[in-house]
Amino acid sequence: MTSLKHRFPGVSDGWARFDGPAGTQVVDTAITAMTNWLSDGSNGCGGGYFAAAQAADEMVERSRATVAQLFGADPAGVAFGPNMTSITFAISRAIGATLKSGDRIVGTRLDHDANVTPWRRAADQAGAQHVLAPFDPATGTLPPENVIALIDERTKWVTLPGASNLLGTAPDLKPIIDAAHAVGARVFIDAVALAPHHRINIAELGCDALVTSPYKWYAPHSGMLWMEPELLDALPVFKVRPSYDHGPRRFETGMPNYEAIAGVDAAARFLLEEGMDRIQAAENELFAPLLDGLNAINGVTVWGVKGLVGRTPTAAFTVAGCAPAEVSQALAAEKVAVWDGHNYAVEVVDQLGLADKGGVVRAGISRYLEPADVERLLRVVERLATSS
Ligand SMILES: Cc1ncc(COP(=O)(O)O)c(C=O)c1O
Repeated sequence: MTSLKHRFPGVSDGWARFDGPAGTQVVDTAITAMTNWLSDGSNGCGGGYFAAAQAADEMVERSRATVAQLFGADPAGVAFGPNMTSITFAISRAIGATLKSGDRIVGTRLDHDANVTPWRRAADQAGAQHVLAPFDPATGTLPPENVIALIDERTKWVTLPGASNLLGTAPDLKPIIDAAHAVGARVFIDAVALAPHHRINIAELGCDALVTSPYKWYAPHSGMLWMEPELLDALPVFKVRPSYDHGPRRFETGMPNYEAIAGVDAAARFLLEEGMDRIQAAENELFAPLLDGLNAINGVTVWGVKGLVGRTPTAAFTVAGCAPAEVSQALAAEKVAVWDGHNYAVEVVDQLGLADKGGVVRAGISRYLEPADVERLLRVVERLATSS
């Protein structure tokens, strides 16, 4: 595995950054793209006749095309926004306006709350039902049948996780998408935790909408939506009258975050150049020893999927006799960054019975980590497990 640490200025300070599932460090070319955008005279608002205004429009369209290539999708469906949560609330609000009493939205308990609460609110306002399929707490998997059993002719939308941000589970989406389409329902995928690690091809998946957070794939803080272009034009989105009536700009309320979009373009190019299959293989080379090392420590429980298949390289674990927050504090003292708690996957920790126990410790592999970082994390956890 070739180390890519040198491409990430943010990790030159000696910290081992396992906090990637919350947000990754930014790749050098994305930092340069943002700096250039802000300093070379391109910085302007789109829609005008002068050079900077045209540069703004061209840059946004170029970024849509790059992101579309990365995700195997039609660029006409790519919209940018501040983050996944804000985009999802905007979409669910528009979709809510199309629902009527008795309609149904089917979701899952494996999801981050940003793919649960927006739909609950939309359903409540329309008098529609919002039901959640459970995952299997013993294996951390989401059997497609659990979701398919809830899909019926009342179902208008099915909302799915590309991967769990807590357990790493990457469910088999295709059978669920097919079952939803068979009754005329649409499918929305939260691919925030999947996109940094696995190749996604929207055309092959056949979903109707998909969201990611580029700041979790080496880009600056931002959100991104892909929606099937005809649907995107048809949804009654909440927008001001003078703004665009057609295309992705309908969703981009207010002035776009141009400098972030310039960085997203560069980060998407980085992923395309590296290749998602190679990224997945390289990450698994580090994740395998992390997982094996954690499993080998007496007193450590790794929650969720066993092995490397059907998952992303994110581990959720607890240490007997040690609260998750104590584990992350001990790791921070050794310059190892992890997160603890529910990480907004409130349904997941609830189903695992960990809600009142401080949740889990979460450590994720990103492309700038190296074997020495994994060894450092394991040494601290082993010391804690043997002393508690
Ligand atoms: C799986 C998943 N979905 C949604 C979100 C929310 O993303 P954002 O911060 O872009 O709103 C996160 C953030 O951690 C996440 O991991």
